[in-house]
Amino acid sequence: MSRTFVMIKPDGVKRNLIGEIVARFERKGFKIEAAKLMQIDRSLAERHYAEHKERPFFGDLVNFITSGPVFAMVLEGNDAVQNARSLIGKTNPTEAAPGTIRGDYATEVSSNIIHGSDSDESAAREIKLFFE
Ligand code: PPS
Repeated sequence: MSRTFVMIKPDGVKRNLIGEIVARFERKGFKIEAAKLMQIDRSLAERHYAEHKERPFFGDLVNFITSGPVFAMVLEGNDAVQNARSLIGKTNPTEAAPGTIRGDYATEVSSNIIHGSDSDESAAREIKLFFE
């Protein structure tokens, strides 16, 4: 068993998709260890996305993630990082397969509904940032 960090972004919360998305993770076999609806401030957003700070979209990403409440979760399960990313789908919703969360609910990369940690190291770092 391992843990991952998953966050429904402001577009997913605004569209009332929390229940639908949480149900998908529960059906897959994940246990929700912690969860909270919260507003991210700019400082937390910049720390969370620090590795992308030189990217051209960094400002837009920080504006977007702080634009409304997010639903942050710690999920536990087998190969949690990889299994969660499989459910989430590719970063760009245009490439995300139907049946995945991004494939089913999003059409553009700048509002792609959900974030999932990309490695065990990122998961540990992000869980600490949001829950400890
Ligand atoms: S990945 O999965 O890390 O390889 O994806 P990457 O393309 O490097 O993107 C890193 C995060 O930035 C988000 N992103 C964007 N936000 C706003 N505008 C644009 N154009 C854009 N392109 C990428 C992308 O969703 C990743 O954030 P998370 O929270 O991990 O989804």
